[in-house]
Amino acid sequence: MKNILITGGAGFIGSHLVKRFVKNYPNYNIYNVDSLTYAGDLNNLKEIENKKNYNFFRIDINNHDEIINLFKSKDISDVIHLAAESHVDKSIESSYEFAKTNVLGTLSLLEACRKVWIEPYQNNIFYHISTDEVYGSLGLDGSFNEKSKYDPNSPYSASKASSDHFVRSYYKTHKLPILISNCSNNYGPFQHKEKLIPNILNSLINREKIPIYGDGKNIRDWLFVDDHCDAIELIFKEGLVGQTYNIGGDFEISNIDLAHLIIKIFDQIKSNPAGFSEKLLEFVDDRAGHDFRYAIDHNKITKELGWRPKTNFNDGINETINWYLKKL
Ligand SMILES: NC(=O)c1ccc[n+]([C@@H]2O[C@H](COP(=O)([O-])OP(=O)(O)OC[C@H]3O[C@@H](n4cnc5c(N)ncnc54)[C@H](O)[C@@H]3O)[C@@H](O)[C@H]2O)c1
Repeated sequence: MKNILITGGAGFIGSHLVKRFVKNYPNYNIYNVDSLTYAGDLNNLKEIENKKNYNFFRIDINNHDEIINLFKSKDISDVIHLAAESHVDKSIESSYEFAKTNVLGTLSLLEACRKVWIEPYQNNIFYHISTDEVYGSLGLDGSFNEKSKYDPNSPYSASKASSDHFVRSYYKTHKLPILISNCSNNYGPFQHKEKLIPNILNSLINREKIPIYGDGKNIRDWLFVDDHCDAIELIFKEGLVGQTYNIGGDFEISNIDLAHLIIKIFDQIKSNPAGFSEKLLEFVDDRAGHDFRYAIDHNKITKELGWRPKTNFNDGINETINWYLKKL
């Protein structure tokens, strides 16, 4: 029997994970804690909202007293921590909010574990979900592995890097049983439209300009959200305490090529003439501090736990486009 707290469960990745855990573990109680910022939406969870093992609490993770109460009253045994301010653009103007949620909010949860769980913490896990952006930016060659130097460039990645360090420090200092994973860019249904792929789709559906930063040559590695959740579930069950795992999609593409690809598939689905929506593309001023390239070496999780990305990008993006076409 476990009482698992998933933070940020009304967001993009969190809602996929909560639904998966509620369905896969009917004997575990799943507690979704989310403060419902603009990025959280309970509609993402409609299909499980009445399940017996699902519970939602609207709590800001920085509200330490409420977090402690929840830990005690629900006998929380494990935490999978996804709640965060997650949009790089917003972090440039609202860095303080990012430090508050991503750094202090993580600390509030770590402190709750330390205060409420009983040493030697044999039946507990604090699993922190993080990003590959903590490693900074790559040139055209190479990839990030778990030993890569932390070198964050945006206030978002700086706040996530800081939270990773705090989590690790609680393992070293307090022997708290932690896990960390750093993942590349996710895509799929239920992502907020501020993010690149939903933003392109939103513009296509509404026949608005599709803004592309700079020259569009920045490269990202894309992973379908279900594959990320496969990895999270596996790490949660089988990961070695104290370890970090890098998770990547093996699918690198420049932003402009990604936009061309999505436009092509969209026009096919809508039976538009080839190239019909290309005219919507518009290059705009580059994002300040825009990282050039991220790429992930996921050998460790592949060798040790047997995970690899399994969704072909074409299949994943078709599913995503069709979902947004129904939703938007
Ligand atoms: N989306 C990606 O491509 C990606 C890649 C790697 C890692 N991550 C990490 O995964 C996690 C989830 O990312 P996402 O894309 O689903 O984010 P998201 O922005 O879609 O969701 C974040 C959720 O956290 C909630 N939240 C924000 N501040 C809170 C607070 N103070 N207290 C309680 N809840 C709060 C929001 O309401 C929202 O539901 C984040 O930690 C992010 O850094 C995301």
